Amino acid sequence: MLPLGKPNPFHPGYGVIPPVLAGRERLKQFFREQLDNFGNDSFNPTPKVLLGPRGCGKTALLKWVAIKARKRKLPVVALASDNLSSVAGISRELARQFPPKLLERVHSLIKEIRLNVGDIGGGVAIGDGGKEEKTYELRTWLENLGGVLLIDEAHNMPPEVGHILYNAIQSVGIKHPFMVVIAGTPDLDSVLVRSKATFIERAPAESIGRLNREDARQALFEPFGKHIRFSDDAMEQVLDEAQDYPYFIQLWGSALWDVLAGRRTYSPGMDVVNEARDSVNEQRSRLYNRRMQELENYGLLVPFAEMAWRVGEDGQPTGYDFNLVLKHLNDHKDGNQEQLETMQKILHNGFIWEPKVGTWEYGIPSLAAHVRWNTIGMILEQLQDEGTLPALQAVYQCFDKMLKQPLVRKREDLERALEQYNEGYDPLVRFQDMKLLIPTPQPGFMRLMAPHLVKGVLAEAERLHLPET
Ligand SMILES: Nc1ncnc2c1ncn2[C@@H]1O[C@H](COP(=O)(O)OP(=O)(O)OP(=O)(O)O)[C@@H](O)[C@H]1O
Ligand SMILES: [Mg+2]
Repeated sequence: MLPLGKPNPFHPGYGVIPPVLAGRERLKQFFREQLDNFGNDSFNPTPKVLLGPRGCGKTALLKWVAIKARKRKLPVVALASDNLSSVAGISRELARQFPPKLLERVHSLIKEIRLNVGDIGGGVAIGDGGKEEKTYELRTWLENLGGVLLIDEAHNMPPEVGHILYNAIQSVGIKHPFMVVIAGTPDLDSVLVRSKATFIERAPAESIGRLNREDARQALFEPFGKHIRFSDDAMEQVLDEAQDYPYFIQLWGSALWDVLAGRRTYSPGMDVVNEARDSVNEQRSRLYNRRMQELENYGLLVPFAEMAWRVGEDGQPTGYDFNLVLKHLNDHKDGNQEQLETMQKILHNGFIWEPKVGTWEYGIPSLAAHVRWNTIGMILEQLQDEGTLPALQAVYQCFDKMLKQPLVRKREDLERALEQYNEGYDPLVRFQDMKLLIPTPQPGFMRLMAPHLVKGVLAEAERLHLPET
């Protein structure tokens, strides 16, 4: 039985410290040592960078660091998305969170800078517009911090702001120790490169991904206390479904707790798991739907669904798959900037990511399965609404006759095959909009970019005996 009156300790959500912050042992040890060595010779002022898909626990870990630092009486300033957009905004936030006893002192130093900056900056405008003045202010805050600076969601910091902040961190950090941890989604790496602060390239990056099974077990079952012992089959089933994904672990923990709160048992089994599943599935479906919508809004849905079909149900994506998605999205844009932006978009989404150099995986494996099936349903619905299902079949047959890749056809051949379907919508334009086909760099040719997905759509149409096929 659960302890009477004890509130549910699980907190599925964003940036909430879980009842057991499982795993991450090596990192926690590193941070503990850094905090213990703060200010002495063993302290390493190099920032630590935490990279990981959404919902894996970056913010939770930063909060853990903040708690440990405050326990050691070190000042902590935590920056996140909403105060990262300008240097002045960062200084304002530093001022707001600064240790009160130091505030007076820094304010008077800053007043002095404002008076002197004309001399220092060699004619830089005094007042609120001067970049130099803002940089000096920022440096003054950092010089006086003497504690911990946490920068969450740093992927949202504009590179030109990052350039100033990271350079200030480097030059100030040589003389005035402070500890810096920077966290963000996997695209943070390329945002940091674009900030052109050389030292940040050498800042060691750590992957914050899913937990391993034993850590997931600890995170899920330890909060129930030592008197509650789930049956083995119940435990394994929950762990299978939680997929070692920290957010799902909290969802399951919370739902199990709620079910158990109404029961008098010390050894819950599958019946408890089955009862909890409804509420977990409800929340999980909401998350999946939001993610599908987001993928669709960014034009990523078809490339990722194609990838999920190509890789297969039990397969793992690789660097090759990542490159194909990149190619799928880039059409024949070849500007470096555009390539970089597309790459950032793919990485930010976290559908797939690279936890170790050369090793790729899905951010949430069950989301990939969801995307596989639901994209088929979505496309089928669109085709039926528009009456373009037979046209897709005709297009597919043109490519199907080709034995080998690359799946390229002359546009005029496709147009000929579609002559009888060309009423209302121009199917070729529609299929291009849907990213099923793209024009090749060589004019007059089209490439079938989503052969696995299209095959799946047509097979499903056949299975459902849709009248148009
Ligand atoms: N090590 C962990 N063990 C168990 N649960 C965790 C762990 N880390 C995080 N969680 C839980 O997972 C959920 C997501 O954590 P968090 O918000 O920190 O992720 P995030 O990586 O910051 O996500 P985002 O990129 O969306 O900000 C929270 O409910 C949190 O309590
Ligand atoms: Mg976060």
